Amino acid sequence: MQLILICVETETWKAAAAREAAKLVRDGMVVGLGSGSTVAKLIEALAELRPDADYIAASSSSERLAKELGLKLTSFEEHQRLDLTIDGADEVDPNFDMIKGHGGAHTREKIIAVAARKMVVIVDKTKLVRKLGQRFPVPVEVLPFAKDYTMKELAALGRPCLKLKDGDPMVTDNGNYLIEVWFKRIDNAAKLEEKINRLPGVIDNGIFAGLADVVFVGHENGCTVLRDKKGFLNFLKETEFGGQKRGPKKA
Ligand code: 5RP
Repeated sequence: MQLILICVETETWKAAAAREAAKLVRDGMVVGLGSGSTVAKLIEALAELRPDADYIAASSSSERLAKELGLKLTSFEEHQRLDLTIDGADEVDPNFDMIKGHGGAHTREKIIAVAARKMVVIVDKTKLVRKLGQRFPVPVEVLPFAKDYTMKELAALGRPCLKLKDGDPMVTDNGNYLIEVWFKRIDNAAKLEEKINRLPGVIDNGIFAGLADVVFVGHENGCTVLRDKKGFLNFLKETEFGGQKRGPKKA
């Protein structure tokens, strides 16, 4: 019963962050859309508030939903410079470094994040962490050809596990496999991101270091916009100190 209540709460928090971020979009902008359940709420808000921008979706599921709801879709081939990318995350730390890709779409998500003038992250408050890697593994997209070799190499860094779907390797939108790697601790996200990406067979991994500009956090009192480390740490202190019930003031 308690678990159901928590899930309903986080869904409302995700929607609060998504709706607030949707207001950043202006007609005529080229906007990147990531994927996941928070981005699905963003797409719903955009369909209502901002249908006249041009959108590039990072995953087939976001593209399907955007199409269904009547957003104007364009492609990355057509626009390689984006005004804005809005995406969810699995974990965000005080430096705004992130783990993403629980849905396996991180490779394209990173491309539209890097290509955007501004990257906005939308999360519910449970995604904020002091250290990355405590709750989520790092997903690594690999070439099926190299899976066993890459798995062995990743075992020297952490605890890798091939992601399965219905008993078979899960296949990404790009036709590759995913290996999820658990780490004891991630002290330097940027270094680890680079190290994993140097391994043969790796396409890209779900660490996003230094890419997020601003974080919209949904919580019981609405949405708070975090713009820097100080705001992030204050937010954490207030919510942890006051327990789950108290909402933070606007950052
Ligand atoms: C998918 C992602 C998602 O943004 C991330 O997994 C968060 O998902 P959700 O909004 O469902 O919690 O990186 O590749």
